[in-house]
Amino acid sequence: MDDFVTLTYNGQEIKLPVAIGTEGEKAIDISTLRRDTGFITLDPGYANTGSCSSAITYMDGEQGILRYRGIPVDQLAEHATFKETAYLLINGKLPNREQLTRFSVMLNDNSLVHEDMRTFFSNFPRMSHPMGILSAMVNALRSFYPELNTLEEEINLTMTRLLAKVRTMAAMSYKISRGHKVIYPRPDLTYCENFLNMMFDTPVKPYEINRAAVNALRVFWILHADHEQNCSTSAVRVVGSARVNLYAAISSGIAALWGPLHGGANQAVIEMMTKIHEEGGNFKKAIERAKDKNDPFRLMGFGHRVYKTYDPRAKIMKKMCDELLESLQINDPLLDLAKELEEVARKDSYFIDHNLYPNIDFYSGIVLRAIGIPTNMFTVMFAIGRLPGWIAQWKESLDDPQWKICRPRQVYTGNQEYNFVPIHARG
Ligand code: ACO
Repeated sequence: MDDFVTLTYNGQEIKLPVAIGTEGEKAIDISTLRRDTGFITLDPGYANTGSCSSAITYMDGEQGILRYRGIPVDQLAEHATFKETAYLLINGKLPNREQLTRFSVMLNDNSLVHEDMRTFFSNFPRMSHPMGILSAMVNALRSFYPELNTLEEEINLTMTRLLAKVRTMAAMSYKISRGHKVIYPRPDLTYCENFLNMMFDTPVKPYEINRAAVNALRVFWILHADHEQNCSTSAVRVVGSARVNLYAAISSGIAALWGPLHGGANQAVIEMMTKIHEEGGNFKKAIERAKDKNDPFRLMGFGHRVYKTYDPRAKIMKKMCDELLESLQINDPLLDLAKELEEVARKDSYFIDHNLYPNIDFYSGIVLRAIGIPTNMFTVMFAIGRLPGWIAQWKESLDDPQWKICRPRQVYTGNQEYNFVPIHARG
């Protein structure tokens, strides 16, 4: 294959280089297009635009493949800890024993949150959404730990701080929102155990570590750990490209993730399912509404920009639902409803023709409900899981020799120049 494509315009031939990824993905490099032709490209929603080259995550939306640094996500979900997965994403390879121990010690040492931050938490209005609080608090971390600079050691410390503290902050906001005593992290517990303990331990009822819940949380976080250039990751990269500090870049990622078309879908799915259940379980009405072009309603948890087949994460999550609910002896009517809805939707020609399959959010809420996580914390759980991916992508962009500030162009469609009209002369 030629390593360039030829663009012909007004008799002029312009050769544009072709970039090919390690899995054969082809891209036309248009970085000199405007300079050579005066043209820009137009691609609303960036569906055909590669914003960067990246060696972190590979996904094939047609075949339903997802790999972190080359390792299939199902293998990681089966064998890895969340900590190992985070290390893999950020550093490029799995840690050896010594590296993992050092990483664990650093996470433990940084897991406390500055006591002054507690007052911030307490002063948010009671009804505040936890994603708004988390985004603000992560940004505020910069004021408490301002010594970020470009020294490698310092950057490593900031990344570890985020991984350690965001988990503590999420549990802390839950406790404060309920008016309960804040539970501190413990050095003897694993990353996942610690989170559940900080969420559910109380002075009058100690939390008993539940193996099935810990395992489900581990898998949930691993499955969410990265997903290449999605909306929130792109937000982290775009904001980070202005060379802001990592806290600010991650804070913008959290804000983007909050949206119901992105990470907020896990909350929206449970709300949709609960409504269908409360109204007698007639999910066919929801399917008909989703198909109606005059109705803005969408079947939440269905469809994906990249996956045109079953989301590989959703497959694992669905299996996890069955295992967890059986192990905890929970009978959740929403799981039966979800399975029935999926079965009917997948036989419907609208969903077949539009390649609409369940995405990760379709079943993840049922797992979180079973663990005891309140619905408005679902997207926060996603954010904790996605943190290693955001950090890895930010770090990669920092080290990229082709780095540039992100600054897209536009096709202007507004008024052409006209003169200012004084107020007395306006109609
Ligand atoms: N229900 C009904 N129709 C849908 C759905 C849905 N959930 N998703 C897509 N479609 C239809 C659209 O109406 C459109 O139909 P048309 O071509 O006849 O006009 C077609 O499928 C393509 O949809 P787009 O919105 O153009 O696809 P896009 O790639 O931009 O959007 C998205 C992807 C946002 C995920 C979309 O499928 C959606 O809104 N899903 C529901 C929300 C959701 O579950 N989000 C979580 C995604 S996973 C994640 O971010 C973690």
